[in-house]
Amino acid sequence: MKRVKRLLEDARFLEYVVKIEDREAKREFCSHELQHFMDVARISYILWLEQGCPQDGFLNKEILYITALLHDIGRWQEYDYGYDHAISSSKLAMQFLDELEFKAHEIDEIVRAIAAHRKGEGAETLLAKLLYKADKLARPCYKCEAIDKCYKYKVLKKLPLY
Ligand SMILES: [Fe+2]
Ligand SMILES: [Fe+2]
Repeated sequence: MKRVKRLLEDARFLEYVVKIEDREAKREFCSHELQHFMDVARISYILWLEQGCPQDGFLNKEILYITALLHDIGRWQEYDYGYDHAISSSKLAMQFLDELEFKAHEIDEIVRAIAAHRKGEGAETLLAKLLYKADKLARPCYKCEAIDKCYKYKVLKKLPLY
């Protein structure tokens, strides 16, 4: 998990986290702060444990955490430039993953999972499925005051509790 620690201490990663916090300071819907990244990391890890830790070629705890920590890192670009944040995050993730010296096939799988996390379309690998599900499970819709206005809730009808 050394690379998870390195990422959490990375100046550029933290700069992007602050940018997201800044852009979402007055947002009434769910925000995309570091707490959300960690929630998704822990939930995806729990889901993976429940499945008996299938490696699917390369999966491990570090990969799950790194994927979750990076899955929304480009969210600020959606506010600043109107980009789809799943795509922005996948592009920014590529740079971090390269610097953290992940292998080429690992980078490819992680980037594809992040790009598919918003709608779940193209989420064919186990990593992509775990990320998609954990991202939805991480949202406490059951206690949300903005639920009637939430686009995501309307699209998904009812987000799962477990
Ligand atoms: Fe997202
Ligand atoms: Fe998310």
